[in-house]
Amino acid sequence: MLKIGRLKLNSNLILAPMAGITDRPFRMLNRKFGCELAFVEMINSRSISHKSKRTRKMMSSDKFERPLGMQLLGCEEKFIKRAMDVINEYDFDILDFNAACPVKKVVRRGEGAALLKDPGKLSRILKIVVKVAKVPVTVKIRSGWDKDSLNAVEVASCCQDAGASAVFIHGRTRDQGYSGAVDYGIIRKVKKAINIPLIASGDILSPQLAKRMFEQTGCDAVIVARGALGNPWIFREITQYLKNAKTIDRPSPQQVALVMVEHLKMCVDFYGERNGVVIFRKFFSRYTKGFRKVRRLRELSSRVKTQEEMAGLSRKCAGLQE
Ligand SMILES: Cc1cc2nc3c(=O)[nH]c(=O)nc-3n(C[C@H](O)[C@H](O)[C@H](O)COP(=O)(O)O)c2cc1C
Repeated sequence: MLKIGRLKLNSNLILAPMAGITDRPFRMLNRKFGCELAFVEMINSRSISHKSKRTRKMMSSDKFERPLGMQLLGCEEKFIKRAMDVINEYDFDILDFNAACPVKKVVRRGEGAALLKDPGKLSRILKIVVKVAKVPVTVKIRSGWDKDSLNAVEVASCCQDAGASAVFIHGRTRDQGYSGAVDYGIIRKVKKAINIPLIASGDILSPQLAKRMFEQTGCDAVIVARGALGNPWIFREITQYLKNAKTIDRPSPQQVALVMVEHLKMCVDFYGERNGVVIFRKFFSRYTKGFRKVRRLRELSSRVKTQEEMAGLSRKCAGLQE
């Protein structure tokens, strides 16, 4: 069992926050395959304080969707305080503060990974968030800004001192973005330096890589990010593999198609048919990764407009694998 503040989790496999991906349909689907804790897409403190319709929809959740986390991005104390008033109106179980986002537009504003360069400021913001939050507060960091400033140990210690209940670490620098080697060494060092749970991220793309992360770093849990795209089965597979299963049950193409149709339906139910089909497009090629003879169907998937057409393409992809 993993304990983050007063939140008790039965699993140490967590679905990562992913902007543009971890919406309600995606989270619900991954939960069916063994993901226990999931996060809403990251939202900026300014957007939260404006309470737009879009933001409210992003923050909404199903009553069965528990435990659920929210991820906050920002660097201006005024907006963070306002955002916290809004967040406190919702029933989240955990609140993560983002000090990891590498996107240029974000770091230029001094948010996300830019805060790694100013641990003092990060600490001040965290103290405010921890003080007013109704739930345990965690922080997501990276190994450092670039290879010459690998300060994750210092940053994680600051987060702990500021009252964080756990640290999430993506074992890459801001400069690396999402590519290049994951630095297992620095994750291990952070684990040794703090006494709150350390949750690791980076290339959790298969059961073997998840096991490697646990073994090489001693982390308390891992978060699955790109590994879950078109692959919710990864939660079940990692669980089996960590229990020493000799074989891993991969889904058949027919099972993949069934889940595609289910995911599509969830998107349509949540966003309406037109937007739901458009949103599902980005998952189509992920689900059919490794499938043969599907190039034409993938091209078509970026043009079809109805649920029926998209579901038909999903079934055809599976049929071609026989
Ligand atoms: C499309 C995409 C969106 C992401 N959005 C966020 C985000 O909003 N907040 C965050 O903390 N991390 C975000 N991440 C980073 C992931 O949570 C994770 O740390 C990173 O992808 C490394 O894990 P992986 O190598 O297993 O994919 C995002 C990653 C991807 C691929």
